[in-house]
Amino acid sequence: MNAIAPSPQAPAPSEAQAPFAERRLGRLIGSEISGLDLKQPLAPEIVEALKARLFDRGVLYFRNQHLDTEQQIAFTSHFGEVRGYDGGAPRPAVWDSRKGIHGRVARWHADGTHLEAPATINTINPVVLPDGGGGDTIWASTSAAYDRLSPPLQRLAEKLTAIHATTPLRAQDWPQGFGGKFIWSEHPVVTVHPVTGRKALFVSPRYTPEIVGLRPNESADLLKVLFNHIALPEHQVRIIWEPGALVLWDNRITQHYAVDDYDDDLRVVHNVGVKGEPRVGVNGLRSRLGAVIPTEELV
Ligand SMILES: [Fe+2]
Repeated sequence: MNAIAPSPQAPAPSEAQAPFAERRLGRLIGSEISGLDLKQPLAPEIVEALKARLFDRGVLYFRNQHLDTEQQIAFTSHFGEVRGYDGGAPRPAVWDSRKGIHGRVARWHADGTHLEAPATINTINPVVLPDGGGGDTIWASTSAAYDRLSPPLQRLAEKLTAIHATTPLRAQDWPQGFGGKFIWSEHPVVTVHPVTGRKALFVSPRYTPEIVGLRPNESADLLKVLFNHIALPEHQVRIIWEPGALVLWDNRITQHYAVDDYDDDLRVVHNVGVKGEPRVGVNGLRSRLGAVIPTEELV
């Protein structure tokens, strides 16, 4: 008798009922989902099944979808009310490599964490891919990173909050975003997912200059520990884009890094997100808005 061979007569219930196929891409993050046409409206039970996989795996990758902007917005709206990057009308944020560092964002971050209510669920549609290849996007699981932090550091991080702020400070250095304003918010360093209850680390090199209540050297050193830990290869999945692909990700339990290795080739991706929400931490910690300051007042 082979005790470990799967029995074809008795598949696991979740396998038997899944309305799509799933292939894990990384051990701790990322799955490819196949068997769905995302141009079509999805039945509620399929959306619920996708949410369950998304909240577990952080990143879902779909191939051969070729969605236009309206179809990307329609698909994303299955997961919440779609908002523009500025919080307004539904439209994609366009990341265009011709805008230099402002169209490339090769720094680890979750989207929009300078806001009190950062993005929750997003999609990326690669519209133009570099002719010579490259331009991959790497996601890291911040929930796996929390799980794999040593318990004393977990307990310390759960008591802390951190500042998340727009950078660079000057609006003219960031022509596409932030509405000409410097914005900062304070968030728990460890957040709790509102559906699954899973904890995740919530600091990033892109947005987090300091941990509240620590001496500057302590803050800088602890942030370095957390940044390096989140970015470990064990926590990553790398998406090598191909035409027609789409990624759906949970911005509450992941960070991403757009690999800037394609020189002057053109790369354009469209990012569509649903309405954000404040983060909730442990023992009543919660996101709060710090300040919104017009950049002309910053000298
Ligand atoms: Fe991003």
